[in-house]
Amino acid sequence: MLTNLLSINDLDKDEMEQIFKTAESFKEVTTREIKKVPTLRGRTIVNLFLEPSTRTRTSFELAAKRLSADVVNISAKSSALAKGESLEDTAKTIEAMNADIVVIRHSAPGSPLLLAHLIKCGIINAGDGAHEHPTQALLDLFTVRERKGKIKGLKVAIVGDILHSRVARSNILAFNKMGAKVVLVGPPTLMPAGIELMDVEVSYDFDETIKKVDMVYMLRIQMERQSESFFPSLREYSSLFGLNLERIKLAKENVLIMHPGPMNRGIEITSEVVSLPQAAINEQVANGVAIRMAVLYHLLIGGEEKLAT
Ligand code: NCD
Repeated sequence: MLTNLLSINDLDKDEMEQIFKTAESFKEVTTREIKKVPTLRGRTIVNLFLEPSTRTRTSFELAAKRLSADVVNISAKSSALAKGESLEDTAKTIEAMNADIVVIRHSAPGSPLLLAHLIKCGIINAGDGAHEHPTQALLDLFTVRERKGKIKGLKVAIVGDILHSRVARSNILAFNKMGAKVVLVGPPTLMPAGIELMDVEVSYDFDETIKKVDMVYMLRIQMERQSESFFPSLREYSSLFGLNLERIKLAKENVLIMHPGPMNRGIEITSEVVSLPQAAINEQVANGVAIRMAVLYHLLIGGEEKLAT
């Protein structure tokens, strides 16, 4: 049974499929008038969010609440970490409260793994620096599977700030596992050296690449992680790597458009593109809750048992 979800590499193809199946039935729950099942009644989930987040934190909170778990939210400013307490001491405090799962977001890559060594409860990585964000990749692939009916055999372009993106890394691993082909697109300065070793193609020409793919996954330019200038100007960046109506005309008619949010509208994607029927950005958010319900379920109850809905 899965005990932690630190990386997409903690899952094999079958486990990913199982999570998608569970998410499908939980998605049905989220459309009922009373959006709650008793599955995790009496369990305690701690959201330890030490970096800014709206959608991921609220998504985990809603997921836990819809499964009837008790949820505690700890954020950077409101916690004793702001008073200088170490992550280890915060972890021990959480453990003393008998939490069943800690969902952690932290700016340091590897901090979820450190936490998993420090305390006995299950750990979910909700984004660690530029390393990984496994539940984002799961909800993305779930959305692709819904829209396209399959993942295997698709050609997917992940576009933009690959260097600083935990979302890109988790998505590369997940798409490769499920048999899609990934091509990374962006300026050379935002392409990590040696990234081809992750079994991806690399392109610096968005206009050429967009013609050949079934889906474009736009990444946010991560200003907060950039200590130097990676491109001459935002205007130049958007003209070469932004997704606008002009560029969409080059793509296949049914190209799927996704973005993990938050979006810099007008930089990596224009508002007109966000409103196109090919864009699945709101579905990604909606599916996020069902996927996180499924991940919590698989960690705490196990995928084998019958769903208690
Ligand atoms: C992503 C993140 O925080 O890694 N957003 C998210 O989880 N919804 C992507 C980003 O911040 O660009």
